[in-house]
Amino acid sequence: MGSKREIVFITTNSHKVKEIKALADSESRNITIVHRNYEYPELQLEGIEEVVKASANYIRKKMAIKNPFFIEDSGLFIHALYGFPGTFSAFVFKKIGNEGILKLMADKKGEERKATFKTAVAFCESQNKEPVLFVGTAQGKIAEEICGSGGFGYDPIFEFEGKTFAEMSTEEKNSVSHRSRAFRKLLDYLS
Ligand code: IMP
Repeated sequence: MGSKREIVFITTNSHKVKEIKALADSESRNITIVHRNYEYPELQLEGIEEVVKASANYIRKKMAIKNPFFIEDSGLFIHALYGFPGTFSAFVFKKIGNEGILKLMADKKGEERKATFKTAVAFCESQNKEPVLFVGTAQGKIAEEICGSGGFGYDPIFEFEGKTFAEMSTEEKNSVSHRSRAFRKLLDYLS
């Protein structure tokens, strides 16, 4: 077996690191994820693809990251709310949290509760190469109430086939989540 290739994951979110490391290990593709707990600017742009691309370009030009690296940006898009909170997901979570989202959805029934979780991963092979993007989505719905104690962020209100992400183990969430779908595309690209 050849030596493992090291890929740097830059994020301040330890939950994302846990998910990505578990996934990389389970896929046994000779990739080792090295976590760097660095902050970087996130511009408020139209879509998460534009946001993650701008951040990756900032990192490769302004921060001295020698190894290939990737970052990711995720957002929750609620259909009945015209895609809200979308690119504002982090801000909205801090301000109104899951309770606030449930209040906004109080009069929505059945199909009206549909939501999409989306992740865009930006991978930079080296400092002089443009980032390559990989997108993953998960289609679910906003639960009627907060359910489960695992995961993070919107996990307790994002229901996928009868269970919220917060009721799933890391492995279960990885088998269906937006993040895992985007990251698997990166793994395919690397192999
Ligand atoms: P960001 O990707 O860190 O900008 O995430 C935006 C917002 O969505 C934050 O409030 C995160 O907590 C939340 N978030 C991101 N990924 C997930 C996830 O997989 N499950 C639940 N919430 C998430």
